[in-house]
Amino acid sequence: MSFAIYVEKLCKSYPGASVPALDGLSLSVPYSEIFGLLGPNGAGKTTTIKILCGLIPADSGTATLFGLNAQQNMPAIKGKLGLVPQHIALYPALTGLENLRYLGRLYNLSETQIRQRSKNLMERLGLEAHADKRVSRYSGGMKRRLNIIASLLHEPELLILDEPTASVDVHSRALILSFLEECRSQGKTIVYTSHQMEEAEQICDTVCIVDEGKMVAQGSPQELISTTSGCRRLEDVFLYHTGHSLRD
Ligand SMILES: Nc1ncnc2c1ncn2[C@@H]1O[C@H](COP(=O)(O)OP(=O)(O)OP(=O)(O)O)[C@@H](O)[C@H]1O
Ligand SMILES: [Mg+2]
Repeated sequence: MSFAIYVEKLCKSYPGASVPALDGLSLSVPYSEIFGLLGPNGAGKTTTIKILCGLIPADSGTATLFGLNAQQNMPAIKGKLGLVPQHIALYPALTGLENLRYLGRLYNLSETQIRQRSKNLMERLGLEAHADKRVSRYSGGMKRRLNIIASLLHEPELLILDEPTASVDVHSRALILSFLEECRSQGKTIVYTSHQMEEAEQICDTVCIVDEGKMVAQGSPQELISTTSGCRRLEDVFLYHTGHSLRD
């Protein structure tokens, strides 16, 4: 079986840190699935995503996307990859549409492509009435939704989202989750992180639980629940593997 993402024995230590952020992490992401990267605070999820997207180098190990090494082939991978960062990456003084126009130009899209894709995506994520409003006036949920649209303008095959549903209300969350399911049905591969186990259980085909920079469990939510003793929900599996102590 070939995978959209293949990570093998990834290690990363930040300068001055007493423990490694990644300590031999291995995982594989099948094509056209929603893949949940789960783990407590500080487990190494964002670090993994940064390495996958070529933003920081690993100390050792390999990260492969579409069969290409992330560290050596990012120019070839870039067009197929959309990243939704954990922190909102938008210009607050520009309107929603101006943000998208700016990003679309960075991707060398034509004005027609930018206009059509922005309109379509804003409609699907409930922002069509807010296109000409400054982002500084958007609610948290609206910013999260625009942040997702910004990563999709160039129509990537693989979408990596770092906590796309953090701090959003029930309505925004439902809209974002059904949008991700719609992307999957179009054949896109989706990797996403979340601290909401119920949500991951609902939409993920496969989840990988990471703790202290290592993979501690990977499988479908149902597989993990049925094979882990005494577990009825994904949250039980998560606590079984990661314990109950605070990580901050
Ligand atoms: N730039 C940095 N410099 C030093 N240490 C860092 C840096 N970024 C992350 N770390 C440390 O690396 C470890 C992994 O952090 P990372 O951000 O990857 O975790 P995470 O799983 O994304 O956590 P969260 O759920 O809180 O977002 C943590 O111990 C964190 O403190
Ligand atoms: Mg993180």
